[in-house]
Amino acid sequence: MKIIVVGTGYVGLVTGACLSDVGIDVTCIDIDRKKIDNLNEGILPIYEPGLEEIVHQNAQKGRLKFSTSIAEHITDADIIFIAVGTPEGEDGSADLQYVLAVADQIGTHLEQYAVVVTKSTVPVGSSVRVKEAIGKAMAREGRQVPFDVASNPEFLKEGAAINDFMSPDRIVIGVESEQARKALEQLYKPFLLNGFRIIFMDIPSAEMTKYAANAMLATRISFMNDIANLCERVGADINQVRTGIGSDPRIGNKFLYAGIGYGGACFPKDVKALMNTGEQHGHALRILEVVEEVNNRQKLVLFHKLEKHFGGDLAGKTIAIWGLSFKPQTDDMREAPSILVVDALVKAGVKVQAYDPIAIKEAPRYIPHDITYAEDEYKALEGADALLLLTEWREFRLPDWERVKELMKTPLIFDGRNIYNAKELEGLGFNYFCIGVGG
Ligand code: UGA
Repeated sequence: MKIIVVGTGYVGLVTGACLSDVGIDVTCIDIDRKKIDNLNEGILPIYEPGLEEIVHQNAQKGRLKFSTSIAEHITDADIIFIAVGTPEGEDGSADLQYVLAVADQIGTHLEQYAVVVTKSTVPVGSSVRVKEAIGKAMAREGRQVPFDVASNPEFLKEGAAINDFMSPDRIVIGVESEQARKALEQLYKPFLLNGFRIIFMDIPSAEMTKYAANAMLATRISFMNDIANLCERVGADINQVRTGIGSDPRIGNKFLYAGIGYGGACFPKDVKALMNTGEQHGHALRILEVVEEVNNRQKLVLFHKLEKHFGGDLAGKTIAIWGLSFKPQTDDMREAPSILVVDALVKAGVKVQAYDPIAIKEAPRYIPHDITYAEDEYKALEGADALLLLTEWREFRLPDWERVKELMKTPLIFDGRNIYNAKELEGLGFNYFCIGVGG
């Protein structure tokens, strides 16, 4: 079996690398020559735990290749994955131009039957457009080659992508022919050992499943954040409430953590895109409008607490920040709450000293202010009036509190991820604030 994966972003690279790891011959393709040259030299465009090793090993064994040319590798491909980006368009809808450009290339060069699988997150109806684009290109070239389209949305989480791909809860595949179904069943067979299941369905349902899953998860987060804010006002503790409701198996205990809002490349974009699909079809998704609004507000909740603590005047203060990426184990800064927090701080006249274990290199591209990037978490604390914990990296969990206190001007902590124990910190002489705990 030969596979090509077009697009070496997050999803494409992880898919290509993991498929090659079970012995499949994979070529990853990208139009970005620099990216491909780097990958051929073993340099990865993203940081993802475990990915580099898998890429190196399989590239060395010759079953994972990188190229800029679809034409060169399409000849004997059985399955072609489209995993290029679908950025947010001006109106909030997913921009399909890259997906359709790849479809055009496939139609131009396909020589034998293949299944063309969309792995990028695309709105319902996109596979039909992919099919049309391939057909149009073939007609233009005066050729007719049989092919099928399929939808195989990806559910992996950044920071845990390899494990999510290798041992997924489920694989969702939308197909419209028996031949495509068999090919994809065969492809994913090596993973059946891990006991997961493939759920076959029709293509629109597979496309909708991806959006509905992310929108549901985003809704859970905004719901918990809203409840957390109320907990503060009524003297309840969101952590206890979470344990209480999470023990109901119908609710489940995962993904119920209150914090400073969701970020990343997926939830914000997918929520908007789904709302857009709703509007296009005359059905506004009112729930998601509120989910988004609550999330935008939540990103600044810690800043407002800090501002309130200092009586509305932060000018001249030095504030330390621990964590800049939208979540731990990634250098991804897209839609990270830290971007808005830093912006608000700088505009309030604060001197910001930030540290992140990995995203520190990526951060200046997203933070348009001249702030201090510290060498380590302790350096960030020097002379600080307060510490804001924005990303729950493991290494921030158990710091040397005595040293923290010595370095800071005032022992004041605002924990945006509820990772510290209030009693313990107060016992050590800190003034401690977190999310959703009244009192
Ligand atoms: C998310 C989904 O979890 C994946 O299943 C999906 O495949 C992916 O989007 C995608 O569409 O590609 P990801 O964006 O990598 O994955 O990150 P998550 O771990 O889901 O976290 C998203 C955001 O929610 C983060 O900002 C995180 O801090 C926040 N979050 C998560 C909470 O505030 N509370 C929680 O309980 C969980």
